[in-house]
Amino acid sequence: MNVVHSAPEMRQLSRHWQMSGETVALVPTMGALHEGHLALVTAASREASRVVVSIFVNPTQFGPSEDFDRYPRDLDTDLRSLAGLKVDAVWVPSVSGMYPSGFQTSVELARLPNHLCGLSRTCHFGGVALVVAKLFGVVRPDIAVFGLKDFQQVRVIERMAADLDLGVRILRHPTVRETDGLAMSSRNRYLSPGDRAIAPALYATLRSVGAKVALGATDSAQLIAEGRSALESAGFTVEYLNMCDPDTLDDVSNVDHLVLVIAAVRLGVTRLIDNLIAVPGAIPQTAHPAP
Ligand code: PAF
Repeated sequence: MNVVHSAPEMRQLSRHWQMSGETVALVPTMGALHEGHLALVTAASREASRVVVSIFVNPTQFGPSEDFDRYPRDLDTDLRSLAGLKVDAVWVPSVSGMYPSGFQTSVELARLPNHLCGLSRTCHFGGVALVVAKLFGVVRPDIAVFGLKDFQQVRVIERMAADLDLGVRILRHPTVRETDGLAMSSRNRYLSPGDRAIAPALYATLRSVGAKVALGATDSAQLIAEGRSALESAGFTVEYLNMCDPDTLDDVSNVDHLVLVIAAVRLGVTRLIDNLIAVPGAIPQTAHPAP
């Protein structure tokens, strides 16, 4: 497993593989790797002959009051967790390598970020789009794999890759969960034991909304009100619970077709997000098909 720090070295390695007829899959991460990330890496290794994992805590996607400084960083532990997997290179760029002095480019999307998490995290998706565009620019992957817990992020990256003709196939990976249903996340480690006991109620509530849709409920305002009240009773502070079109992320008022049920909540200092696809007349799904 090559551990690469510089962009030119990473570019050369990837180009060398592709010139030799191989395909390259990229798994972008911010480190603090957990089983969810490892599942993305395993999926990547099924899709391409070479796998690159990037580890970079990207400052441009954190707001001024967010957890950039305290975001967990432990490269040695991350490298150890990747050691048993098929990983050909781990690219660990530095902040000054990614954003050298004089840097002034931004990547903005007109509509997808104006929903859901983008309303409270106003610079977040611009920062994600920018860093992912740079990662793609260096590695030039054939495939890139992203987890669907961050559904809005996946839609932003899919849109950006299509709009900019980046020539990369975006592979959606189902959310990986703990046995009690909590979506795996690097931020789960911030949860106190008491909050950790409450946290699975987020997914349970989304499932209950999905089950009502499956049984024929169509009024999203009522479903959202019931879901919010269940989340608040469980102990969450609700940032949003929405039902929206899984492609545009626009709100859906009458649920007569497949709908994304998506929420962001807080437990103490920890912000949790989760989602599922609900289908009228069908059991809720977490493995979202591409639109
Ligand atoms: O999902 C993440 O870990 C990050 O947002 C990503 C895609 C690696 C960009 O920094």
